[in-house]
Amino acid sequence: MEERNFTISYQSFEGLEELNEKDKLLCLKAEEALKTSYSPYSRFKVGAAVKLKDGRIILGSNQENVAYPSGLCAERVALFRIGSEDPNAVIESIAITAKTDNFVIDKPVTCCGGCLQVMAEFEQQQKQEIEVLFYCINGEILKVKGIKNLVPFLFKESRLSV
Ligand code: THU
Repeated sequence: MEERNFTISYQSFEGLEELNEKDKLLCLKAEEALKTSYSPYSRFKVGAAVKLKDGRIILGSNQENVAYPSGLCAERVALFRIGSEDPNAVIESIAITAKTDNFVIDKPVTCCGGCLQVMAEFEQQQKQEIEVLFYCINGEILKVKGIKNLVPFLFKESRLSV
């Protein structure tokens, strides 16, 4: 038996003022995306903003459904918009935020495994790491460079595509 360890690294910022202008704008765009959230079941709004290498910012918000599993997370709504409208676009970063009237969100909301798996696929296709910002409105922001820092044991199987 051999004990092994991963080192996961990320940055923590106290608030928007501490971010560079590019990341600050992206967080504010994620907040803007909250407006289109369709979340009558959970009442938990999630907004995502994706920055492309050419400067464009694509928004997404969670879209729920009365048949619960048919809904989709904000991150995947934004990412699949890009995949279907502009498959050669290169993604630089994604900011995610959340809001609800039911309780106070006082920590950054991190994203689900399904969205991380989808981000990883985009990363592998474009051969460039994606920066992920988890933005708590009026609070801390976490910045993670590359999906490997979020999912070290990611499912990968290159032989499935040859
Ligand atoms: N949700 C997201 O949009 N992104 C995530 O990464 C996790 C959860 C949404 C799905 C659902 O509409 C609501 O948050 C509550 O789970």
